Amino acid sequence: MISKKMRKSLGGSSVIRAMFEEGQKLSALYGEDNVYDFSLGNPNVEPPAGIKKAIQAILDTEDPTMVHGYMNNSGYEDVREAIAGDINRKYGLDLSSRNIVMCVGAGGGLSVVFKTILDPEDEVITFAPFFGAYRGYIADNGANLVAVPTHLGTFEPDLKALESAVTPKTKAVIINNPNNPTGAVYREPVIKGIAEVLAKKSEELGTDIYIVSDDPYREIIYEDIKIPYMLNYYKNTFIVYSYSKSLSLAGERIGYVAIPNEIAEFEDVAQCLGMATRDIGYTNAPSLFQRVIARCLNESVDVGIYKKNRDLLYNHLAGLGFECAKPEGAFYLFVKALIPDDKAFVEAAKKHNILVVPGSFFGCPGYFRIAYCTSYSKIEKSLDAWRALAKDFK
Ligand SMILES: Cc1ncc(COP(=O)(O)O)c(C=O)c1O
Repeated sequence: MISKKMRKSLGGSSVIRAMFEEGQKLSALYGEDNVYDFSLGNPNVEPPAGIKKAIQAILDTEDPTMVHGYMNNSGYEDVREAIAGDINRKYGLDLSSRNIVMCVGAGGGLSVVFKTILDPEDEVITFAPFFGAYRGYIADNGANLVAVPTHLGTFEPDLKALESAVTPKTKAVIINNPNNPTGAVYREPVIKGIAEVLAKKSEELGTDIYIVSDDPYREIIYEDIKIPYMLNYYKNTFIVYSYSKSLSLAGERIGYVAIPNEIAEFEDVAQCLGMATRDIGYTNAPSLFQRVIARCLNESVDVGIYKKNRDLLYNHLAGLGFECAKPEGAFYLFVKALIPDDKAFVEAAKKHNILVVPGSFFGCPGYFRIAYCTSYSKIEKSLDAWRALAKDFK
């Protein structure tokens, strides 16, 4: 029999995947061209050409026992050193390999961070709406997720609500900037505000409250905005980074956790992160892709493709009367459903072969999420279906 813990999460946590599978079923029935699957955040933009070149060069020139073998749980020393150098150049820091632990994407990074810091009954605060998978990463450690509201409309964190939500059990606060599912980007005053609240509360309560900065969309931004780097604002920070979106490598499962020297109990934390990779069973991040990343730190994907998608879909939906904040980053639109029941609305959308995810999965009922990391032509083809859906509720 499956565990009670897994039984509890069986229903809710797989909504996005279930939707993706539903899309495949609809495609089999109506033809792929006639199904508008906006459910999964799977990048449609090609990885940069440098990735393929790096793979070929590594296989041709590097020692295969290095390329395919085990290494230190934290990852290859030279790869971690290269990543630390990249962070230092971009954000004016002084990190080295000892500050970096290579991970299996951001999901793997979040899992090892939470395994390192959480005890049963601890609390982790996140701002709603939030990436629903956080529930599982936190529950795995017997801890509880506490959702703090954002200001509806801008989806910026409510700092007063944050302050009231902190208790002696608060171990961490997750910040996801740019945000999935809203596409909101938090600027410096918000980040400083969060850091100030947590510094004050840590002092008042005599506890270490960590910030877990979940950064997979860091480079997916559309306006000329400088996203604040959390290590420059708060010492008890874990940066969780992934190349899933920034280099369109979601299936390769590669990312890292960065911690500053000033984090509380640095040596123990660094060692525990490495041990946690083994305990959760992945042991080390994929070896070939660690080596690929080290050669591709200056590569990027064409974010203009997502921007074009955003503009087409956002303008169309706004014209149809949908309420939605214009996203400044990531590749999601978080839209108010035309009826209060977001799940019923998502079912209604399916009748027009539109697949989207209900806001409840993100802790924000009454809304739905559109992942527009799909082809422009698919979005163009979907416009009539959106019009028909809106008409159903007029
Ligand atoms: C906010 C957020 N965090 C973490 C992840 C996990 O990403 P990865 O593929 O790097 O594990 C995702 C994936 O969509 C995400 O949206």
